[in-house]
Order: sequence, then C-alpha cells, then structure tokens
Amino acid sequence: RRVAILVSGRGSNMDALLKAAADPAFPARVVLVLSNRPNAPALDKARAAGVPTEVLDHTTFDSREAFDQALDERLRAAQVELVCLAGFLRLLTERFVDSWENRLINIHPSLLPAFKGLHTHERALETGVRVHGCTVHFLRPAMDEGPIIAQAAVAVLPDDTAESLGARVLEAEHQLFPLALRLVAEGRARVRGERVDLTDTPT
Ligand code: GRF
Repeated sequence: RRVAILVSGRGSNMDALLKAAADPAFPARVVLVLSNRPNAPALDKARAAGVPTEVLDHTTFDSREAFDQALDERLRAAQVELVCLAGFLRLLTERFVDSWENRLINIHPSLLPAFKGLHTHERALETGVRVHGCTVHFLRPAMDEGPIIAQAAVAVLPDDTAESLGARVLEAEHQLFPLALRLVAEGRARVRGERVDLTDTPT
C-alpha cells in the first residue's frame, strides 16, 4: 500500500511510521511526507530518511477548499492509497474527508471518546482518570471522531505531571500507530463490522 504522512511539527510519530515501514515485510510504503508548515522539523527528518517531501503552505491559499483541493491533487499524483495524520494541525473540509473515507488515519493522544481536542494530558490529570492513552482512528469530518482502529492504555501515576504523562503516552503512540497502519494496510480493520477494502481508488 502506498502511504502519505501529513505533518505540521516535530514528527516523532512520522519517524515511528518510517522506521516500521523500512522493514520490507511491512505492508505499506511511505511514498510522501507532506507538511502544511514549511519549517516543520518533521520535514528534515523525512529528508534524512530519504522520503520524498512536499510543502503546501496553508497561508498561501485563499480558502480551506483551495488548500484541500491542492492536497487532494498531490496525493493522487503520488498514487497514495492511505494517509496517516501524524500531528497534522489543520482541519480538513468535509468534502475532502468524505472523498478519502476510511483512508485517512489519525492519531489522538487520549482514549477517545474522552478528551477530544487539545491539552489532553492536562485534562486527564484534572479529571483524575487512572487510565489514559492514545487512539488511532479513521477520520470523519467532526474533529477527533471516527471509527476506532486501535487504542493503547497508559496508567496515570500518582506523581504524574502533564509532561511525564504525555511522554509515556507518546511512547505508546509510537508503538500503536505502526500497528494500526499495518491492520489497515492488510485489510484487517473493520468499520461497523465490515472489512475496510482498499482495492478501489479513492472517490
Ligand atoms: C502527538 O501527540 C499526536 O498524538 C498529536 O500530536 C502529537 C504529534 O507529535 N496528534 P509528533 O509530531 O508526532 O511528534
């Protein structure tokens, strides 16, 4: 399967995906890393790994629709079949998300549906949950919604700060994202009981 990774920042999840995909036995190849921010550190990491990169600077587009249209064109030009959002800090239009339905895979640093949105580790500590974690899910137009592919749980320790908890969740993310991508690329992920079939081209 041909995979693109969308990034905006640091790119540690992207790194974990690139490492997993470097194994010839892994069922997906990363053919493109695309950032909406020209200065994202993730871009340097991708270049160092020898993966083609592109920048689509969202500030140069007049509208979300125009940005998403350009993104769609880049993905199709690279014959991308699956897209991993790895710290991609931009909402995508309903039209784009619908036309890539069950092909957009997002990672979120909480056990969804708890703690959608930002500052998940602070909110987990404030709420007092004893178990926190991360979720990989198929993207839907509403933020942090969509069928769950895989989750990893992390214990909240008595002396945890947002930083210490976040660091443990991030380690779990680096394990979980490649595992979830493998499930999807192998056609083993299900949405409402149905296997997600990637044989057709995106609509
Ligand atoms: C991760 O915590 C991810 O779950 C969230 O944004 C962060 C991105 O980190 N969506 P990185 O760029 O992968 O290092």
